[in-house]
Amino acid sequence: MTNALGSPLNVVLPQALAANAEAFRAVYRRHRLRGRIYFAHKANRSAALLRELAATDAGSGAGADVASLAELQHALGAGFGPGRIMATGPKTREFLWLAARSGVIVNADSLDELDELAALVAAHRLPRVRVMVRLSGFASPGVQLVSRRSRFGVPSALLAAALDRLEKHTDRLELVGVSYHLDTVGLAEKAIALESCLAALDECRRRDLPAWSVDIGGGFGVNYLADGEQWERYTSELAQAVLGRRPPMTWNGHGYGLRNQGGTLRGTLGLYPAYRPVAGPSYLDRLLATPAPERRRPLGTLLLDSMIDLDVEPGRALLDQCGLVLARVLEVRDGPDTLVRLDLNARDVSLEEHGVLMDPVVIPREERAAEPTEVYLLGNLCLESDLITRRRVSLPVRPRPGDLLAFVNTAGYFMDFSATRALHQPIARKVALFRTGGDWGWCLDEQYWPVHERAEAA
Ligand SMILES: Cc1ncc(COP(=O)(O)O)c(C=O)c1O
Repeated sequence: MTNALGSPLNVVLPQALAANAEAFRAVYRRHRLRGRIYFAHKANRSAALLRELAATDAGSGAGADVASLAELQHALGAGFGPGRIMATGPKTREFLWLAARSGVIVNADSLDELDELAALVAAHRLPRVRVMVRLSGFASPGVQLVSRRSRFGVPSALLAAALDRLEKHTDRLELVGVSYHLDTVGLAEKAIALESCLAALDECRRRDLPAWSVDIGGGFGVNYLADGEQWERYTSELAQAVLGRRPPMTWNGHGYGLRNQGGTLRGTLGLYPAYRPVAGPSYLDRLLATPAPERRRPLGTLLLDSMIDLDVEPGRALLDQCGLVLARVLEVRDGPDTLVRLDLNARDVSLEEHGVLMDPVVIPREERAAEPTEVYLLGNLCLESDLITRRRVSLPVRPRPGDLLAFVNTAGYFMDFSATRALHQPIARKVALFRTGGDWGWCLDEQYWPVHERAEAA
């Protein structure tokens, strides 16, 4: 494939999505909850993944969370009906118009957005739009923890003002719920946010705005590594290396956020917690079992007792094991360190940017004996900073020019989120790899429609 389509090459596995969506749905069943699973489209631009999800029946049918005009167009074109699309994030007027025109739920990011949407509905005589209000800046009176500042959403302290606007626009906007998305792995922060949203829904209903859904966003995470002990050992050795107590493990002593200040370790490790045994659906399960900080009952029970629908917007977690990036080895340079130059750059597989340390798999061009080798992986940009790994990577086979390296489990954010055409280097082509009639088939991502098996069976 790389001979025909070049390097880098992105491979997505659309059929792997169904099991991930089903695993989330199983958590709903366990907690006897209703609501929709919206795939956060931003995590991957693939058409194949979106179309496959549109065809997948995870309970009542997974939906799409779209955060731009083009993502909304893409979701509509992939086969999602408006009832299965949620528009999130700050929006342009055009995005709001198409959302309102097509009848998707608008998850409003600010008070002004509610006004702008109501004005568009009036000016274009559109049907009443279902809206949610995204809240942020939660605090729990009895609890010390306050959620960190966010540039998104309506501060929860301004809930009353949001409800005033909704009352004012009641013939144009129909409130269906409130939401949050927190960029953290911390369960405690999320528990406060979820309980605050339940309180906000109580307040909506007191104000005669009957809203019955809470959307808790994404951020359920992925477990990227199999061995927790290895991960612990690696991070403590990294700290020792930063302190100069062992040979360096990284390019120019890079500390991933840690630094040596006069023999004392300072800073914080800016890495994704790559070993996360409680991630994805299990993280949701854990959150629902967590007692609400004030009411002290499990959050899942509170949702069930109040008959509130739970919506989620997983991006990364739904894409667990749904794709990989292939890159060709261009050059292997020996010296104090072995440097392996690849035909892709750090934006094509943005593991470093996202702080995820996963070693690639070597696919040798011809079979040869194992030869464990420590290497730095360099990108194809004429730029000092273009390092695919800023740490030394141990490979079981010494790479040679012409070999491929496979960066596995990279469908969520690492594959195309940051890709650019710097230096006129091509952006990776994307192919969909799928099972068909007991065999594997592949096609260009944009050519993929989830009809192949049924067509063959006919
Ligand atoms: C509003 C919203 N929902 C969902 C997500 C998806 O998050 P994740 O991919 O971590 O699940 C994001 C990510 O930025 C987001 O901003």
